[in-house]
Amino acid sequence: MCGIVGYMGKRNAYDVLIQGLKRLEYRGYDSAGIALEGSDGRLRVYKAKGKVADLERAVEGQDISGTMGIAHTRWATHGVPNNVNAHPQCSQSGSIALVHNGTIENYGLLKTALMQQGYTFKSETDTEVLVQLIEYVKETNHCNLFNAVRESLRQIEGAYAIAVMEKDNPDTIVAARKSSPLVVGIGEDETILASDATPIVAFTNKVVYLQDNEIAVIHRDRPLQVLSLETNHPAPVDIKTLQMSVAQLEKGGYDTFMLKEIFEQPETLRDCIRGRIVDDGARVVLSGVLQNKQKFLDVNRIVIVACGTSWHAALIGKHIIQDMCKIPVEVEYASEFRYSGPVITDKDIVIAISQSGETADTLAAIQLAKNKGAFVYGICNVVGASIPRNTDSGTYIHVGPEIGVASTKAFTGQVTVLTLLALCAGQVRGTVDAGTVRTVAQALARIPDTVRDVLKLDEEIQKLSRTFTYAHNFLYLGRGYNYPTALEGALKLKEISYIHAEGYPAAEMKHGPIALIDSEMPTIIIAPTDSLYDKVVNNVQQVKSRGGVVVAIVNPGNTAMQEMADYCLEIPEVPECLTPIVASVPLQLLAYYIAKNKRRNVDQPRNLAKSVTVE
Ligand code: M6R
Repeated sequence: MCGIVGYMGKRNAYDVLIQGLKRLEYRGYDSAGIALEGSDGRLRVYKAKGKVADLERAVEGQDISGTMGIAHTRWATHGVPNNVNAHPQCSQSGSIALVHNGTIENYGLLKTALMQQGYTFKSETDTEVLVQLIEYVKETNHCNLFNAVRESLRQIEGAYAIAVMEKDNPDTIVAARKSSPLVVGIGEDETILASDATPIVAFTNKVVYLQDNEIAVIHRDRPLQVLSLETNHPAPVDIKTLQMSVAQLEKGGYDTFMLKEIFEQPETLRDCIRGRIVDDGARVVLSGVLQNKQKFLDVNRIVIVACGTSWHAALIGKHIIQDMCKIPVEVEYASEFRYSGPVITDKDIVIAISQSGETADTLAAIQLAKNKGAFVYGICNVVGASIPRNTDSGTYIHVGPEIGVASTKAFTGQVTVLTLLALCAGQVRGTVDAGTVRTVAQALARIPDTVRDVLKLDEEIQKLSRTFTYAHNFLYLGRGYNYPTALEGALKLKEISYIHAEGYPAAEMKHGPIALIDSEMPTIIIAPTDSLYDKVVNNVQQVKSRGGVVVAIVNPGNTAMQEMADYCLEIPEVPECLTPIVASVPLQLLAYYIAKNKRRNVDQPRNLAKSVTVE
């Protein structure tokens, strides 16, 4: 889970690569580096611990000329973040430079073998082993860079997206991928490759998504060449047009991407719903479901696999699919799924939820599900990512690029798509009545405006956040549909403020966490006036009678709760299954402002990266 970029063309490569690294910084930001080919045939490698801005400072005054280069922003897996472990990693002679996203599993064995051949290693990285291996193969086989890379990759076990360049060869970059994303942008007399399309869109909208086990040769004077790593035969170069704009990648006047993404939700939800609710809410049209009607009729069970925030959305999806479709649903952490002896058959539908579409654990889970014969359905945001390309069918959430590491608009988009899926499949199966479909679908069609109203709480929440800046622990409680909302609220706070927070089913509190309650630990309770409201009131009383401080998320006019709780935040009333979308927004804002009060870097919280492409 690092970001890689490569450039060959007529511009100054350094500028393009730095700009690209800034776009990819969400993928990792503990060190960065760049390798440039100068007109004198020298390879210039610059690295810095820290962010891309630190690299820029380190490079001040250095020679940054050249029209070809590769660059990297790192999220450390092998070796601490420092200059030596930063990429590009170079071969022993210094003539080959390589950037890598992924992990090489058999690097220990290869390293020992190379050491026996006299190679010495400077870094602790797995990547250095690959670049040394390429040099070794090149020298012993007397072959060109392409053949050396190809032969070396055949000896590698693990995941990789790589870009490689060499001294004295200012016209060639070799790139390859297996289980880590790589996109090649084809411009006028220039080519830019990257871990995703965000560094590319400023230069061209023509892209090729490299497939697993493909190797590409980017040559200054020849069209892009893509070959199969196994057979060495040419693979089709399938050029797609990007549906992305540069404006979507900017902060648009907001202080941070996260705040922009929270405030974008009325528009992103509108995009997510567009064309999917028809006939004034009488019908929900989700092509992924309608094109596979029989699967949704024959299914015995749905298993949803996901990680992090997407897993929270999955829990909400379970509830709504069970309600509307009367299909048993299980939710699994994708990271645990394959180690839990899963019993999956061809009568199961496995739904994978992922914002990035690149999460390694989720990809591994769907591979296993496919091998066992399940029909695999993806719910993703990033168009053309690995998960949508490796599923039988699916639905994009269409919320646009999410750059803040903490997921916000993707979460509400995922819950929206799961609601649409439940309604559509429920109609196909005849398990949901027309009145329910219309009520929920019409409310969902209004949800962008509802969320716009919720965002008016911004100032109130900002003020409230100051009361809690110095709390060390938070408890988030919710029941039914809003137990996952509580989990999500707690995760948001943990991720960006580094305050410990626990999400809990409200009624479970009395089985343990109630021992923690005191005046120092705020409890956030999600308490819309729904079917479980009366029970949640009891939980509020249990916290209050032990001296706890309560912030309640309630529907307007709930005077009883206003008397009981210390603070109330009012959200509009919506059908019960839609309350997580509405209730999660004030929790995003609360986490955001507490983190800002603590001067945290909310877009790039410590130790995290946006997409986790390693196990
Ligand atoms: O891209 P994915 O949805 O597969 O990512 C899953 C998690 O890594 C992600 O949701 C993570 O928990 C976020 N940082 C949450 O804000």
